[in-house]
Amino acid sequence: MIMTMKSPEQTKKLGEVLASFLQPGDLVILDGDLGAGKTIFTKGIGLGLGITEDLITSPTYTLINEYRGRYPLYHFDVYRLNDPAELEDLGYEDYFYSNGISIIEWGNLIKSYLPTDYLEIIFHKAAENERRLQFVSHGSRSAQLLAELTKVVPE
Ligand SMILES: Nc1ncnc2c1ncn2[C@@H]1O[C@H](COP(=O)(O)OP(=O)(O)O)[C@@H](O)[C@H]1O
Ligand SMILES: [Mg+2]
Repeated sequence: MIMTMKSPEQTKKLGEVLASFLQPGDLVILDGDLGAGKTIFTKGIGLGLGITEDLITSPTYTLINEYRGRYPLYHFDVYRLNDPAELEDLGYEDYFYSNGISIIEWGNLIKSYLPTDYLEIIFHKAAENERRLQFVSHGSRSAQLLAELTKVVPE
């Protein structure tokens, strides 16, 4: 499933729409190069969860930022993780298996640590202002989430 976003605003809006379907315990990973739109998309998710968007920046140095919205939001960026084992020091299981929502930029780098069920979104830079988002569900819950999203957002 691929969706084409023709502006940063459109990408943010899609994050906001996805947030309306997110449930406690959901986990979404965002893959793709620097500047592909992962953080903007996360800002949209935050907005959809009732979190002031300017709070959300990439947690490049802290690895994780926590926000309180309709549900807790755990925003990870694991790009600078030197060793995936650092996730264990962080107590990642308390986040991944919680009643909050985990969004993980560069989640493809830590696939062996992910739960069995998660939604993967791969961001491709198609042009200066165009991004192609490829959605892959892993498990039944993420398949349901994706089905709900595609019902309201035509391909
Ligand atoms: N269609 C689009 N969707 C998302 N971002 C876009 C788009 N077109 C241009 N951009 C720009 O690309 C950049 C994406 O940055 P960011 O979300 O921080 O990326 P990442 O977190 O993947 O490194 C922003 O500067 C944004 O304005
Ligand atoms: Mg980012």
